[in-house]
Formats: sequence, structure tokens, C-alpha cells
Amino acid sequence: MSAIENAKVAVIGAGAVGASTAYALLIRGAARQVALYDVNTAKVDAEVLDLAHGALFTGASTIAGGSDISVVAGAQVVVITAGAAQRPGQTRLDLIGTNARILETLLPQLLEVAPDAVYIVVSNPCDVLTSLAVAQTGLPPQRLFASGTVLDTSRLRWRLSQRTGVTPSSVHAHIVGEHGDSEFPLWSSARIGPVPILDWQPEDGGRLTLDELEDIASDVRNAAYTVIQGKGATNYAIGLSATRIVEAVLRDEHAILPVSTVLSDFHGMDGVALSVPSVVSASGATAIRETSFDERELASLRASAAALADIEEQLRG
Ligand code: LAC
Repeated sequence: MSAIENAKVAVIGAGAVGASTAYALLIRGAARQVALYDVNTAKVDAEVLDLAHGALFTGASTIAGGSDISVVAGAQVVVITAGAAQRPGQTRLDLIGTNARILETLLPQLLEVAPDAVYIVVSNPCDVLTSLAVAQTGLPPQRLFASGTVLDTSRLRWRLSQRTGVTPSSVHAHIVGEHGDSEFPLWSSARIGPVPILDWQPEDGGRLTLDELEDIASDVRNAAYTVIQGKGATNYAIGLSATRIVEAVLRDEHAILPVSTVLSDFHGMDGVALSVPSVVSASGATAIRETSFDERELASLRASAAALADIEEQLRG
């Protein structure tokens, strides 16, 4: 049996994001066992039951779970989605007080039952929560990181795919920085297939301009607000993004994904968690130091780092 068939993934939090992550893990066959944990017994039991009722259609993957932390035991990967979600009008950073407290309580319990797992923080604000969690647990930053801008990057590639007529997986572009209002695209290295993005000739129109690209980046930055305004939450695309990261870990893929790790000596930045292209494998995530930034991008990355360092400072205050 391959490693993937034996793998167990635990999802913490049975809200919209946790349940959608469990669903995505099951239908993509990412792991043999998926466990869902939440303190709310009625809610988690109902979500597990609803997911289990699809067992006929989810192949070899099984779902279990409940409100006893022991359901997490033995997981190779733990995806943390617990906490308050953004409501209309709130930023991700507005959630920090509540979600930092929740994570602080959860982490020792999780480490007791899954001491060797790779931990992926999805709860927001995921960058600050990751820095705090690494400081609290002393885990190597490689093993505790956030989903970061993997979702924002998917949003960007989808928009560019629509504009260029090329499938998202052939659009090579990344959103980096904070998973939030100061995130930005790395246009200097963006390509459609092998072609620098500004040189691409779409079939049905003129070339892309920098102004158009900035409009697309702004839509991506505001995408979650748009979805939350209409339906109260975002859940499907983040569930797929978290699942994609889990797959890269369980299959030891060495896939390049813009997850958020606590950086050290990254273009002069230290100790702050930010998303940059990173190698994701069974041992976790490592930022790619060779990633190139033009002057403007580096200034934006530093601004993202400063904004997040400020919040952390206030919290430790
Ligand atoms: C979003 C949430 C997950 O960007 O932060 O949809």
C-alpha cells in the first residue's frame, strides 16, 4: 500500500471551511482517513454523518470525527480551520483576538495527540496566527505554516486564464505577502506558459497592460469581501486550496506553492510569517530564497511584513 492510502488527515473546526476541506479531501481521495474535530458535538457529528452518507461515492477515503480530541490521533497532517470567520465589513486582521485565543488553547491538545504532524493554519489572519503558533509550540517553521496566498494565487490564475484563454495551470503567476489587504502579485516573473505576461497575445484582443493587471490584482485582493458580501462566507475554494497543500505534503511532491512560513533571512526579513513561493513536501514547507523581486515588489513585501509585525507587537504588547 502506498503512503497516500495509509494517510490520515485531521481537520480542526467543522464550520463552512472545515466541512468543505473535509469534503474536498474525500472527493479528491487525498487521504485514506479524514477526521473532523470540533468542540460543538452536535455540529461535528452531523457534518461527519452527512459526509459519511456519501461513502458509496468517495472510494477508499473514510470520514470519522467528533468532539473528543482523540479523533485527531495519528494524523500525519492537521489542517486548522477553527475560529471566528470574517463577517461582511470585517477584515481578516479583525479576527486576531478571538482566533489567537482559540489557537492557543488548541495547540497543546493537538500536539499531545499528533506530535509529529505537519500543521497547516487556515484560520484567519493566517499569517499572524502562524507566527504566534510557531512561537508558542517551538515547532520548526517548516512544520507549521499557513495556507497563505495559495487561494489568492488560484483566484489570480483564474482571472488571467479567462483573459488569456490559457488554462490556469499554464498561467505562472503568484500572489505573495499577507493573506489579506497588503497582498500583491509578482508581475515581474509572471508568465503565460514560457511568455512574459505583457508579451502574451490573447486570441481575441489586445495585449494586457499594466493598468489592466493592476485592476485584476485589486479584484483578487477584494475577492473574499465580494463573496462574503453575497453568501456570508468563503468555503469551497479555500477547501480545495487546503486540500492541494495536503496532497503536496502526503505525496512528498516538492510542489511549489505560495504558503506562509515564518521567514528567516529572506531578502532581509526575519521572524514574520508571509507567503512566498515555497517548496512543499513531506517535511513541510520551505520558502524559496532565490525568488526574484523587482524593487517595487520588494518594497511591497517589506510593507506586508511591517504591517504584520505591528499587529504581533500589539498582541504581545
Ligand atoms: C478567503 C478566506 C479564506 O480568502 O480568507 O476566502
